[in-house]
Amino acid sequence: MRMREILVTGATGQVGGFIAGECRDDFAFVALPRSDCDLADRGSITRAVSMRPWAGVINAAAYTAVDLAESEPEAAWCVNAQAMQWLAEATARNDIPLVHVSTDYVFSGDLDRPYEEDDPHCPLGVYGASKAAGEQRIRAAHPRHAILRTSWVMSERGQNFAKTMLRLARERTTLDIVADQHGAPTHARDLAQALMKVAARLASDPDAATGTFHYTGDGAATWADVAEEIFRVSRACGGPFATVNRVDSAAFARPAPRPKNSRLAAGRLVSAFGVTRRPWRECVSDIVQQIMASERSVPS
Ligand SMILES: NC(=O)c1ccc[n+]([C@@H]2O[C@H](COP(=O)([O-])OP(=O)(O)OC[C@H]3O[C@@H](n4cnc5c(N)ncnc54)[C@H](OP(=O)(O)O)[C@@H]3O)[C@@H](O)[C@H]2O)c1
Repeated sequence: MRMREILVTGATGQVGGFIAGECRDDFAFVALPRSDCDLADRGSITRAVSMRPWAGVINAAAYTAVDLAESEPEAAWCVNAQAMQWLAEATARNDIPLVHVSTDYVFSGDLDRPYEEDDPHCPLGVYGASKAAGEQRIRAAHPRHAILRTSWVMSERGQNFAKTMLRLARERTTLDIVADQHGAPTHARDLAQALMKVAARLASDPDAATGTFHYTGDGAATWADVAEEIFRVSRACGGPFATVNRVDSAAFARPAPRPKNSRLAAGRLVSAFGVTRRPWRECVSDIVQQIMASERSVPS
């Protein structure tokens, strides 16, 4: 029997890259690059959604330049908000369930507990506001959706905190790292697995849960904790390491403020879809070892 196909946007991204070409639960995941599904172009979205009889759509593409968004809000708003309305309308019209990735940045981080799925949005910057608007537009246009908010995504692919730390440790012996922001690292590959599981369920079960969910690595940490774990694992593998100097975020002036509390309560996704979460230290260890292995395999 021919496998049913699920469309994935953002083929070149950190998360989309882990879904591209995967097959599971009788579904094949077909990831399209920007040239085949440009979220800034309504016609391109409509053509991609109508291209084949898709069983589902996963939107792993987004405008993700958090600081740059402060100086180019139109671009962020177009891809993260306006395009979500176009995508939700196109998928609703074709009766295709839509799975979308959102962010802890829809919250201000002022609460002193992990954020629940239904806590009100209160973004601090343009990126968070555009992603919050994208969520709202999907909810308004398409009832068969699942929005998965995540945080602190990293992996051996793309640009992320783990890769930056290892690069900087080759240049300096001590690094100032923020110790007053709390969240959970998430392995992009684990998030990709969760997205595929949710999309496959929505595509095959009309009674599958819909709505908003959270998915992150298990536990909580500060960026300084994460950096120390990265260097502990790297050092054990013979890789670069640095001493972490724990500082407040006030030491880093950035165009977009970051939430102090990015912790997301993930119980709803675990109980609705049986998704498993790995402790964040295990995720970080896995990522560092993958980065070291890929560096070793590149001929010098
Ligand atoms: N990274 C994090 O720490 C983090 C945290 C919370 C939530 N998230 C969310 O997780 C999702 C995936 O993030 P990621 O880390 O995988 O991002 P990423 O590595 O920056 O990838 C972004 C992807 O979006 C694509 N894209 C950007 N503009 C586009 C457009 N106009 N049309 C089509 N594609 C476009 C990019 O394509 P090009 O290669 O052509 O630019 C790329 O494939 C996003 O929704 C993000 O908001 C990420």
